[in-house]
Amino acid sequence: MAKITDPIAVFDSGMGGISVLKEMVRLMPEEDFIYYGDSRHAPYGTKPTEVVRRLTIERVTDFIEKKHAKAIAIACNTATSAAVAILRKMYPDVPLVGVEPAIKPAVFACDHPRVLVMATPVTLKEEKFHKLEALYDEQADIYPLPCPGLMEFVEAGNLDGAEVDDYLREKISPYLDKNLTGVVLGCTHYPFLRREIRAIVGPSVEIFDGSFGTARELRRRITEAGLLREDGHKGQVTFLNSSDDPEMLRRSEYLFRREI
Ligand code: DGL
Repeated sequence: MAKITDPIAVFDSGMGGISVLKEMVRLMPEEDFIYYGDSRHAPYGTKPTEVVRRLTIERVTDFIEKKHAKAIAIACNTATSAAVAILRKMYPDVPLVGVEPAIKPAVFACDHPRVLVMATPVTLKEEKFHKLEALYDEQADIYPLPCPGLMEFVEAGNLDGAEVDDYLREKISPYLDKNLTGVVLGCTHYPFLRREIRAIVGPSVEIFDGSFGTARELRRRITEAGLLREDGHKGQVTFLNSSDDPEMLRRSEYLFRREI
């Protein structure tokens, strides 16, 4: 039986989910969070879906059964598309949220939306994305853009400079003549590259990510389950990472504090 004082577990293939964790801490400051980055197995977004599914299920099962998490956030679009439906069936009583590309707000932001969706190859090929895209493709021009290799820059702490700029320009430039109205960051690593992406698409294109929506949904789910902590406790964040490299934990702390 979950206790109100138990922590919330936040999971990603690496450090990207820290962009979602930041919103959660802002919205639920009295909660304790465990953030787990699976950097040892990253990237997920270019692996076979079955492998991503297995890694995600193993981790979430461990959080629930061994670490006594009262709620789970899969702060990874790739892991969500591969495993969230199965996990909801496995643990129907646990508040569990995933993250998906924020296409809806990007479509509703203007009259003739033209939206670039940057995400991993797995996210864009899964059925979950196709269903989401189908909801809006009559009202909007949606351009899915797989970005294999992009999350690696964030994992390596490489958040600006020529290498990342060259990668982004090569990917995004073919869409600049589409008169884009929005860019959706459909991978939780990409908000850490928001400034670089902004510099390429220009100030008039709105940039969307799913962090706030996911944090709000988590708050709603734990409130509904009677598990929202409101006792004045100063919430703590504990970072864990599957990599042996101690630098990964230092980098996690740095990304958590960095403005994005
Ligand atoms: N952060 C993950 C996402 O939101 C993916 C990165 C990866 O492991 O490829 O999709």
